[in-house]
Amino acid sequence: MNSPSRSDPSPDTPDGHAARDLFQLSPDLIHLNHGSYGAVPKIVAAEQDRWRAHIEKNSTGFFKDELPNELRRLAGVAAQRFGGAAKDWVFVENATSAVNSVLASFGLRDGDEIVTTSHAYVAVIKAMRIWAQRFGARVVVADVPMIVESEDRIVAAIEKAFSPRTRLLVVDHITSATAIVFPVAKIVKAAKAGGIAVLVDGAHAPGHLPLDVEAIGADWYTGNAHKWLFAPKGCGLLWTAPARQAQTRPVVLSHGAPDGYTQAFDWIGTRDVTPWLCFESAARFHDSLGGESLMARNRTLAADASERLAHELGMLATAPARMRGAMACLTLRASPAAVANVAAFAAAIRNCCSAIVPVYRFEDALCIRISAQIYNAMEDYERLAAGVRAALQNAAQHGVQQ
Ligand SMILES: Cc1ncc(COP(=O)(O)O)c(C=O)c1O
Repeated sequence: MNSPSRSDPSPDTPDGHAARDLFQLSPDLIHLNHGSYGAVPKIVAAEQDRWRAHIEKNSTGFFKDELPNELRRLAGVAAQRFGGAAKDWVFVENATSAVNSVLASFGLRDGDEIVTTSHAYVAVIKAMRIWAQRFGARVVVADVPMIVESEDRIVAAIEKAFSPRTRLLVVDHITSATAIVFPVAKIVKAAKAGGIAVLVDGAHAPGHLPLDVEAIGADWYTGNAHKWLFAPKGCGLLWTAPARQAQTRPVVLSHGAPDGYTQAFDWIGTRDVTPWLCFESAARFHDSLGGESLMARNRTLAADASERLAHELGMLATAPARMRGAMACLTLRASPAAVANVAAFAAAIRNCCSAIVPVYRFEDALCIRISAQIYNAMEDYERLAAGVRAALQNAAQHGVQQ
């Protein structure tokens, strides 16, 4: 079977709180963190259940005869949506796994430098450091200011970190902590001018903004479908430029590893492949909510909400709205004691308004990152603002200043 029977949601899908019922979200919480782990719609969860049941009817037949073709078909679906050809795309568990695979198979040598930025995902920086150390290479972190006003400022900071030893640049498309859309095509162009290979970490990009990997022009592009494209957790993708496929292998090597790029990734042992099998139905769900217009809607809501929070609480966004997508990172002026006590501040916000929202320290600032998804409405951010205001009043004795 190509896919278990599907029933897509109707095109007149509800918006805002009326759309919550399409998801499995707890009604007791204000969900403002779509960016971290996504939210699986009921219809996609049901599809995953159907796949699980289907596999268990004859797992031998499924893994031997059905899965290889289905994965390649789905790679074609990824290519149609995000550019490139089916043979360039492989499924991975997540962006972390893809980044590690590229780092492991890049061929780092003694004395090489990998450049990344101060806005990169911390787990990815940790992985880069470990892989670099194994090969005698080192990681150079380009210092991009926490608050940026222009794309050129980002490009310039990255270029400044390049040296004759730089062989690889690992750069985020949408940064996690600061929620900025980096100008990846311009960054890739600058790196290529110096003969530097580029891996774009687009963990947040699929379903968040329009994506054309070939137009970006990197060597590798990884993204998660389990964040903004509504796939079940464990649905990541890696695109590899044709010239890099011969060298690119997963960290875990198995039957297909000697045979080629797609063979190596398509089979790395027995595992739960159902998140990948739901990729197409998740993408169709995204389409049914409007596809590009959904992305634009979320972006507008995030911009309006961010403006409201900035205005009401004296917070400062890390970048202007034109450099952001469906998330915004708002920073709060705070004393060192308050920054050190970020966990208490986060708990206070949670207690005051039941909002699920990341509250963290970035550099010397207290940050709150909001996400905007179809199930959110302005009222959610108003409740967050009230919760933050109450938490600030409670935390006054800890030295948080407005
Ligand atoms: C920029 C970036 N890279 C990598 C990751 C890791 O994603 P995953 O946990 O799905 O591997 C994240 C997660 O939020 C991220 O924001």
